[in-house]
Amino acid sequence: YGSARVLVASNRGPVSYTVGEDGSLDAKRGGGGLVSGLSAIGSDADALWVCSALSDGDREAVRRGAGEDGVRMLDIPADVHADAYNGIANSVLWFVHHMLYQTPLEPVFDAEFRRQWTSYETYNRAFAEALAEEAAQGAVVVVQDYHLTLVPGMLRELRPDLRIGHFSHTPWAPPEYFRMLPDDVAGQVLRGMLGADRLGFLTQRWADAFTACAERFAGGLGGTRIGVHGLGADADFLRERAHRQDVEERMAALREEIGEGRRTIVRVDRTELSKNIVRGLLAYRRLLQAHGEWRERVVHVAFAYPSRQDLAVYRDYTAEVQRLADEINAEFGTPGWTPVVLHVKDDFARSLAAYRLADVALVNPIRDGMNLVAKEVPVVSDGGCALVLSREAGAHEELGEDAITVNPYDITGTAAALHEALSMRPEERAERSKRLAAAATALPPARWFLDQLEELQG
Ligand code: G6P
Repeated sequence: YGSARVLVASNRGPVSYTVGEDGSLDAKRGGGGLVSGLSAIGSDADALWVCSALSDGDREAVRRGAGEDGVRMLDIPADVHADAYNGIANSVLWFVHHMLYQTPLEPVFDAEFRRQWTSYETYNRAFAEALAEEAAQGAVVVVQDYHLTLVPGMLRELRPDLRIGHFSHTPWAPPEYFRMLPDDVAGQVLRGMLGADRLGFLTQRWADAFTACAERFAGGLGGTRIGVHGLGADADFLRERAHRQDVEERMAALREEIGEGRRTIVRVDRTELSKNIVRGLLAYRRLLQAHGEWRERVVHVAFAYPSRQDLAVYRDYTAEVQRLADEINAEFGTPGWTPVVLHVKDDFARSLAAYRLADVALVNPIRDGMNLVAKEVPVVSDGGCALVLSREAGAHEELGEDAITVNPYDITGTAAALHEALSMRPEERAERSKRLAAAATALPPARWFLDQLEELQG
């Protein structure tokens, strides 16, 4: 047995490496709820995070044995990882849970899919074996997300002494959609997950969908318990970070781009199919058509950061976002006014600057496990912001009362919601924003993580 008493497993780890020109390794720590959540157990020598080596720098770090303490990166063969990550996790499981398929043509589960599925099994087994090797007797293991659905079952067989949890950061598909997967694959996914003592979801809705799938296709939950942990925003971290000098500088630059005395509609996303950026832009165009009074008086600040660019559909989608933004600017723009300010280069300080300036936040995903942007903007915005929020985001369960709710497919409805948000009286906006911030920070990342550990240990 190993010596780790608390283990986390995820595809993307908390740190990534690049190799400098002089051959030196440079480590960059990632952001995000899970990273800050795990910092709750801190530099505890008994904690270990197992993740994939994703970049050339990561693989080099593994080769040199130069990884950070408390992190073990698995150097899974590149073709196996690509099949598992791009082929199965991001093209099949992500699409199923976010219900993204264009069903007349997709999906097709053919020989290529079967090859990729075998890689997904291999990749999950590599995690299970590493965890089995590193975990101390009776240790707690928390496996993250759809990349690693088979790990709990595999690990249970290797190490029946462990307490195993799994947490889903995505929605879970309802049975009628989930059963699109080939029966054997659907069964493997469910049985893999049910190898855990406890499964965590972001909302009751996703937990119920999983339970329904387990009942219909796997004979029920067996001894596995289900819990809901609505990950919240990290208020202390965000407020401190959002008032540093680099954010102030970016606010000044953004103010230049926006222009004097204009309202700001902000959105910040990975350029992700489920985020519905294209329909968001269509709704903004509709707003400018239907409510000409907003022309010259509003700017849509849209940050769309490249994601999963190995997949052609993501590249096409990214191009469409750019094209549509250009089209709107060509149609409505004037010498002193750019209606859409689109940035694609990932810059966290600039995201926070936009949050602070936001009068309206637009969060309109087709389907989303939680959506932390919806929770972060009200916490950070200087003047209080109105939130236009999709009813299909997990965050809607907690923020729905003070948000303006939209059906993400309804362009005219979303345009009307933007108009309502822009027209909201400042006092009402500030009051609602305060309540949104309170609800958004009810379960900070550290608490979110510790709750799960306690449930598993208890
Ligand atoms: C979602 C998933 C995470 C994933 C993140 C970024 O939030 O739930 O597991 O890490 O997207 O996606 P990427 O493919 O870049 O890791």
